[in-house]
Amino acid sequence: MSATAEDRYADFYARQLSSPTLAGIYQEVYGEDHPEELRPFGFVTRTDLARFAELLDLRPGTFLVDLGCGRGGPGIALARAAGAGLLGLDPLAVAVEGARELSVSLGFPEARFAVGGFTATGLEPGSCDAVLSVDALWMVWNKRAAFAEVARVLRPGGRFVFSTWEPSYVDHAGLLAAAGFTVTAREEAQRWLERQLLVYELVRARATALEGELGPGASVLLEEARDTPAALPSTPRVIVAATKTG
Ligand SMILES: C[S@@+](CC[C@H](N)C(=O)[O-])C[C@H]1O[C@@H](n2cnc3c(N)ncnc32)[C@H](O)[C@@H]1O
Repeated sequence: MSATAEDRYADFYARQLSSPTLAGIYQEVYGEDHPEELRPFGFVTRTDLARFAELLDLRPGTFLVDLGCGRGGPGIALARAAGAGLLGLDPLAVAVEGARELSVSLGFPEARFAVGGFTATGLEPGSCDAVLSVDALWMVWNKRAAFAEVARVLRPGGRFVFSTWEPSYVDHAGLLAAAGFTVTAREEAQRWLERQLLVYELVRARATALEGELGPGASVLLEEARDTPAALPSTPRVIVAATKTG
């Protein structure tokens, strides 16, 4: 994907933590299911995180890579709870810096974060026990190359768990099989549609406050809230788990 597409969230990350309006929207829509302390950027819930933990089945001393980690919260929570090591990669330096700060404030300073992405991990073949990606894969244009890279860095039997949106023209299961994975789960995230639509409704209703707090970082949110709802019912937010064969 182009640098421009990957850069679109840089302004948002720079101001994300200065927006009580945005935090309030997620709180209002998701209530206790919103993991505010992890500062997620996307739609991950505590319910999703519990499901990721089951599907990843991390053990102490294993090594998790979080691709498209953003501010890093989901990977930090899962690796820390399991006693696993963590590397988070994101193309945006501002997100990586935010992830470093968050890992320290959450008491997990040994987590590592670096600039990178789905097709640029810089990792050795077979060097990871598990790969996670939360709400990031939809941004990756070349999914075939992305899955090939995940297969390359995972050890045989290693697990790849992700959430993303799945339009009818994207066959994640077929692409995973072609890359050498066995798909073990594919399910819609719980109550994703009604809650995502409500977030967009509140973002549109509170546009002025968001623009005041997020500055130029508000524009990607407002565009998404305006342009996405029509197609959303036919673009399910899915949780997928796959095991590297062989
Ligand atoms: C919606 S955010 C999700 C962030 C984080 N996983 C979370 O749940 O808080 C999507 C992230 O994907 C990243 N991204 C965009 N293109 C990517 C690529 N090619 N490889 C990895 N990450 C990418 C963006 O920079 C952004 O941080």
